[in-house]
Amino acid sequence: MRHFLDMCDIAASELRAILDDAKATKAARQGWPKGKVDAGAPLADHILAMIFEKSSTRTRTSFDVGMRQLGGQTMFMTSSDMQLGRGETIEDTAKVLSRFVDIVMIRANNHQDVVDFAETGSVPVINGLTNKSHPCQIMADLQTLEEKGLDLKGARIAWVGDGNNVCASFIDAAPKFGFSLAVGTAIGYEAPADRIEAARAEQGRIDVFTSAADAVAGADVVVADTFVSMGDKDADKRLSDLAPFMVDDQLMGAANGGAIFLHCLPAHRGEEVSASVIDGPQSAVFDEAENRLHAQKAILKWCLET
Ligand code: CP
Ligand code: NVA
Repeated sequence: MRHFLDMCDIAASELRAILDDAKATKAARQGWPKGKVDAGAPLADHILAMIFEKSSTRTRTSFDVGMRQLGGQTMFMTSSDMQLGRGETIEDTAKVLSRFVDIVMIRANNHQDVVDFAETGSVPVINGLTNKSHPCQIMADLQTLEEKGLDLKGARIAWVGDGNNVCASFIDAAPKFGFSLAVGTAIGYEAPADRIEAARAEQGRIDVFTSAADAVAGADVVVADTFVSMGDKDADKRLSDLAPFMVDDQLMGAANGGAIFLHCLPAHRGEEVSASVIDGPQSAVFDEAENRLHAQKAILKWCLET
């Protein structure tokens, strides 16, 4: 059974194949109407259930449109409309849904719930973001960087701000794709040490900084994310502690010339990024958002081995 829970659990060659498939499938449907089914309808007769415990625009839309483009069908559910929201266990939910659908995507508050769902159910499970990681996002990010002409092997990517779930998946990806990652976070907002250790054990180069300027020095890519993730309670404190990590023109100027700016969105202009950067010429955020669709389709196909 192929689950897509975290990139650290998947072989580099498999991740490479997913990325190549995402790029090829995107290229094959250039100029097509968005509802047209891909050649061969690779996931015809398959149903995807999407369970959301938190809000989503891109993940919801990219999986829903993606599954339809693959010729399959989708069901959107929020945990609050399900018995899950009234205390039914993850394990019972997983066993029941496995009888109805072919694959499940979950956005969950607690990472362990997604792991438990995958372990108890009998269909592939995709992590659509948890408190710990967001691997689908990073596949789209890497696709975007390659499309912009960056050779990931030997590239330098700088993460700036909070060492959060998205940062953790960048750390997982570094040894798999051979880029080096500079993680610049405020004190108290460090990326998880166990993930850094695991990436380093796989020969990943992860350098840790407590200043944004140090992190972006020599970077080909600068990545920002919200300072207040879904589920974070201490918004005011976070905004004030992380304010020195805003990516603005000055910080972009400290990276390599022509460095690409990425942000998974939703963004907060004037908090983690200035409007001039996110809406400026170095920003690739809308290509990045579109690539969620292409990356998600390749992940769905990989999970279902089609
Ligand atoms: N980047 C991302 O996952 O966006 P959504 O929260 O809108 O799905
Ligand atoms: N770190 C953010 C990502 C949103 C897509 C969050 O978890 O809210």
